[in-house]
Amino acid sequence: MDRRVVHYARQGDVGVITVDSPPVNALSQAVRQGIGQALAEGLADTAAKALVILGAGRTFIAGADIAEFLGSGLAAPDLNDINAAIESSPKPVIAAIHGTALGGGLEVALACHYRVATQDAQVGLPEVKLGLLPGAGGTQRLPRLVGVTKALALITSGDFLAATEAQALGLLDHVGSGTPLELATSFAASLPASPPLPRASQRSDRLGPGDADSVAAARQKLADSTPWLHAPQRCIDAVEAAFTLPFADGLARERALFWDCMAHDQSKALIHAFFAERAAAKVAGLGDAKPRPVAQVGVIGSGTMGGGIAMCFVNAGIPVTLLDMDKAALDRGIGIIARNYAASVAKGRLSQAAMDQRLSLITQTTDYADLSAADLVVEAAYEDMAVKQAVFARLGNVAKPGAVLASNTSTLDIDAIAAASGRPADVVGMHFFSPANVMKLLEVVRGRDSAADAIQTAMVIGRKIGKVAVAVGNCDGFVGNRMLQYYATEAQRLVIEGASVSAVDQAARRYGLAMGPFAMGDMAGLDVMQAIRDRRVAEGKIYGTALSDLLTTDGRKGQKNGRGWYLYEPGDRTPRPDPAVAAMVDAYRQQHGITPRTIGEAEIEKRLVYALVNEGARILEEGMAQSPGDIDIVYLYGYGFPAWRGGPMKQAELTGLAKVLADITRFAQMAGDDPTGAHWSPAPLLVRLVAEGRERFG
Ligand code: 3HC
Repeated sequence: MDRRVVHYARQGDVGVITVDSPPVNALSQAVRQGIGQALAEGLADTAAKALVILGAGRTFIAGADIAEFLGSGLAAPDLNDINAAIESSPKPVIAAIHGTALGGGLEVALACHYRVATQDAQVGLPEVKLGLLPGAGGTQRLPRLVGVTKALALITSGDFLAATEAQALGLLDHVGSGTPLELATSFAASLPASPPLPRASQRSDRLGPGDADSVAAARQKLADSTPWLHAPQRCIDAVEAAFTLPFADGLARERALFWDCMAHDQSKALIHAFFAERAAAKVAGLGDAKPRPVAQVGVIGSGTMGGGIAMCFVNAGIPVTLLDMDKAALDRGIGIIARNYAASVAKGRLSQAAMDQRLSLITQTTDYADLSAADLVVEAAYEDMAVKQAVFARLGNVAKPGAVLASNTSTLDIDAIAAASGRPADVVGMHFFSPANVMKLLEVVRGRDSAADAIQTAMVIGRKIGKVAVAVGNCDGFVGNRMLQYYATEAQRLVIEGASVSAVDQAARRYGLAMGPFAMGDMAGLDVMQAIRDRRVAEGKIYGTALSDLLTTDGRKGQKNGRGWYLYEPGDRTPRPDPAVAAMVDAYRQQHGITPRTIGEAEIEKRLVYALVNEGARILEEGMAQSPGDIDIVYLYGYGFPAWRGGPMKQAELTGLAKVLADITRFAQMAGDDPTGAHWSPAPLLVRLVAEGRERFG
C-alpha cells in the first residue's frame, strides 16, 4: 500500500506539514510532490493561520534525494517551484528544524518566511562535497540573508553550522529547547496578526558594494588551494549572480551551473564515493548476525600500531588493557601515546581534562591473564607468522568465551593465525592503517571460519571508533596492500627505466594522491617493506625490484632513520632528493644495460593507477572484495586517493574500460618477459567486461 511521505494536519490554529520519508526525509519526487500538495491543503484550511514544515523521525530534510541524481534528469515537480510556492504563501510559513537541514532541505527552509531550530540542530549546504552546488535557490537566497562573504564560506566549504552559529548569522530566527513543533507554534503565536512576511528573494539589505571583492578573494583562495576542483568555482559563479542579476535570472544561472556540475566527472566520482561508503557498511552473507557487545578491549603490542589502536578505543570511551612483553616497552608505548595527546592539547584540539581521562582508560600489563575480561582483543605484534601464532595460542586459552580475537596483520594468512587459537570462529582480521589513530580505513578480514557475528562485531565497533570499515577476503595483502604491491613495483620500474624518484612522486601528487609512492615507502619503513618482499620472494612471488634491495642493504629505513628514497632532516618529514640514491639508480641501470629514456607524466600516472586497477579487477573476480565501490573506499580512506576521482575502479569506469584495457595490454607488451612486470597480464574480468561491451565493473 502506498504510504504518504508528506502529511498535513492542523494543531490549534497552526497547519503542520510533516515530511515523513525515512531515513533522512530526502526530497525524492514523492516528497517534493507531497510538500506541494500539503502546502495547498494548508493554504485552503481557513482555520490555519500559520503553516509549519517539519521532519518526522531523526531529522528535518537532509537534502535532495541523491539517488535520483544517478538517473537521467529529475521528474517534476521541480524543487524551485515548490520553494516559490512556499515563499509566496500569504500565510506565514515556518521551518521547524531538528537534526540536520542540509542542501535542498535548507533551501526549503530558506524559502520559508521564518526558521526556528532546536539547540542541537545543524544546517549546511554540503552540495560542493558531492561536486555540485545548491541548485534550488540556496546560492541566491542565502547571500540575501547572511551576506555574500558568509554565504561564500558556507557554500564553497560545505561545512555544517551549529544552530546557535546560524542564528548569529541571521540564518535562523529562533533557537530554543522543546520539540520542533513546540518551538514553531510558540514562534507563530508571537507573530503579529498580519505581519509583513519576510521573503529572502526580495531582500537586498545584506548585499553591498564590497561583494565583488569578496567574490574575487574567494576565487583566488580556491585557485591557490584546490585549483583542480570544478564545483567550488561554480559555487562562486552562482553566488556572484545573487548580486549581479535579478532574483529570477540568478535562479536560472544557478540551475545552469548546477547541471554543468552534474555533468562533470568529479560529481559522478564524489556521488559514487558517498554511496560506496555507506554500502561498505553492509556485508553480504552475514544473515541477521548481531554484533557481540564490546565494553572492554585488549590490545597486544604497544608499538606504533598498538599504541595508535589503543588510542582509537579510548577516544571512543572504551577502556583498553594494553599488553607488552616488559615494563620498558609499555612505558615507551604509553609515553608515545601521552606525547600524541599532549600535541593535540598544545594545538587546542583537546582539553587537558580529556587527555587525562583518555589516558586513565588505559591499563598496562605484561600478563596475558589480564586480558580475560576483554570482549575484543586486537593483536598488533611484530609482522611474523610464528610470533602471531604464539600470541593467538595464548589468547585462545585466556580470552573469555565469545571474545572476538582480531589480528592487525597487514599481509599474513588469517586462517593460519586463527588455527593457532583453537577457536577460529572467534578470529577475524582488523587491519588498521598507520597512523592508526588518524587513518580512517579499517579492513575487516573474513577468515574461512570467522563467525558471522564476529565479523559483524568488527564492522560495528570499527564504525563506533570512527573508522570506515570494509570487509575483505583473506589473501596476501588483503585488498589495499595487495593492490599497492604492484603500484610500488611499478614506481620502481619507472625509475629503473629512466624517471627520477621525485618525478614519479610528483606525477602521483599531481594526479591528486596525498603523497607519492616513494615518500609513502619511506613513511611505512623500507625495512618493513623489505621483510614483506623477502617473504614473498621466498614464496616464489614477485614484489618490488632488486633496486629496493640496494637501498635496504645500504641501511636505509626511510623516515625513521632519516634515509630512504629521500633524505630527511632531524624532526622534519620533508623528503629531500638524495644524490646517493640517484647514483645507486645509475649504477643499477648500468649493471643491467638499461639506457634511461624520458618518461612523460601521463605514462607515469597511467602505470601507477592502472597497476591498481588491474589487480583490483582480479580481487573482484576472486570475491576478495564485495564490490568495486569497496575497493574504491579502501583507496580513498587508506591510501590518500583523491575523493574527487572516486577511487581507482571508478576512475577506470569514467575513463572507459576499453581504453584502460588497451593501455594495460600495451604495458604488458612493454614489459615483455620481465618478471617484475608480469602483473600487467590483463585481468580476465577486465578482458571479459570489455569484450561484452560493458562499462562498469559491477
Ligand atoms: N539522498 C539520498 N539518501 C540519503 C541522503 C540523501 N540526501 N542522505 C542520506 N541518505 C541515506 C544514506 O545513503 C543512508 O542510506 P542507507 O541506510 O541505505 O545506507 C541513510 O540515508 C542514512 O545516512 P547515513 O548513514 O549517512 O546517516 P548519518 O546519520 O550518519 O548521516 C546525514 C546523516 C548527515 C544526513 C548524511 O547522510 C549526509 O550528509 N547526507 C548527505 C546530505 C547532502 O549532501 N545533502 C545535499 C544533497 S544534494 C542537494 O540537496 C541538491 C539540491 O541543492 C538541489
